[in-house]
Amino acid sequence: MSSTCNIALLGQKFMGRAHSNAYLKASRFFNVPIRPFMHTIVGLDLIALAPFADRWEWKKYSTSWKEIIKDPAIDLIDISTPNYMHAEQAVAALAAGKHVACEKPLASTLKEARTMRNAAARVRKHKTFVWFNYRRCPAVALAHQLVKEGRLGRLYHVRASFLQDWGGPEVPLGWRFQKKYAGSGAHGDLNSHIIDLARFITGQEFTEISGAVSETFIPERELIGAPAKTGGRSRSRRSKKSVGKSDVDDCTLFLGRMTGGTVASFEASRLAIGHQVSNTIEINGELGALRFSFEDMNLLWFYDNTEDKRTAGWRRIMCTSAGNHPYAGAWWPEGHGISYEHTFVNMVAEMMAVLAGENPIIPIPNFADAYETQRVLEAAMLAAKHRSAVRLTEVK
Ligand SMILES: NC(=O)c1ccc[n+]([C@@H]2O[C@H](COP(=O)([O-])OP(=O)(O)OC[C@H]3O[C@@H](n4cnc5c(N)ncnc54)[C@H](O)[C@@H]3O)[C@@H](O)[C@H]2O)c1
Repeated sequence: MSSTCNIALLGQKFMGRAHSNAYLKASRFFNVPIRPFMHTIVGLDLIALAPFADRWEWKKYSTSWKEIIKDPAIDLIDISTPNYMHAEQAVAALAAGKHVACEKPLASTLKEARTMRNAAARVRKHKTFVWFNYRRCPAVALAHQLVKEGRLGRLYHVRASFLQDWGGPEVPLGWRFQKKYAGSGAHGDLNSHIIDLARFITGQEFTEISGAVSETFIPERELIGAPAKTGGRSRSRRSKKSVGKSDVDDCTLFLGRMTGGTVASFEASRLAIGHQVSNTIEINGELGALRFSFEDMNLLWFYDNTEDKRTAGWRRIMCTSAGNHPYAGAWWPEGHGISYEHTFVNMVAEMMAVLAGENPIIPIPNFADAYETQRVLEAAMLAAKHRSAVRLTEVK
């Protein structure tokens, strides 16, 4: 590949903005070996596309992803469309000889995720990336490094939750509330992130989902427009009366076991009133413990159990030290924190390094890696459905 990577981004709304911002900023803040070039933005809403392309400095815009995937000028297809589109778009992009970055969850079903994993395995020359962006919080990356160095010793517990409260009855029936478009609700949307974090930080895989509960608190929602085009995160006017079925979970909780004997608990909800993006993980080991909360994302808390008990306590680590904390050197002077959007910029810089044949600072999940997270999602859904434990060996 030349010194430039021509990007086509599919999807122009929430993640469309986050990814556009990341492509714009990556080469300004990082010394990237390959510069991302914002070639074509693709969406369904033609009226919105022209001003979007202009604002975010995309060279071209299009409503036809099938045409753009075949464009020989494009090097990388970035998929930020609703979950049910990921497999078809990714498989077509790989067949057309493109690198592919795809939003999480990898797909809406395990079967689709398997198709994607297999397609990626067949074209080894082309890289795949999955946007589990929370790995690229410096505090999370540091947690990964500390566990890898053995600072926690044997791991006993993982305790993770991703709680939100935007999914009340006033929110209409967008694609996120329909199985045929999303695959699942809070589970695929939020548990996918914390399953990835648990696997990434501990370096362990799941062996069993020991039990799970799932609930749809709000089974009917107001119908609006074409649901595949609307994410359903915004409040609607309450004048319309027609309603449709929401057939995904509003919350899913599960317990699991991991290699190394670690036990783990997970909880995802869109109706945890009082929480907005409460993405937290705590890991307790023999030699110490770590905890991270996205709402204070520049901090990592570390308890060193080898210290003198008289002075032991939770240490508050501000992860903004250039040269000491992953990604911190690309940003601001020490103590000047970063935020949500920077995780995407960090990831683009890492993707460009991988395309240039360099090692990323922190591993990026590819389709094979994200498929393992999808297996855990599937096992937990089966455990909730059958009210029984599911071994991961039963979920291929
Ligand atoms: N990593 C994160 O933090 C994070 C956060 C939110 C969403 N996501 C993921 O990103 C993906 C998109 O979510 P979103 O919140 O941006 O959704 P959204 O509803 O805000 O936007 C979806 C976009 O996809 C476009 N689209 C739909 N069908 C299309 C098609 N056939 N061809 C081209 N474009 C099409 C729509 O026009 C829209 O621009 C989902 O997989 C979601 O799980 C990830």
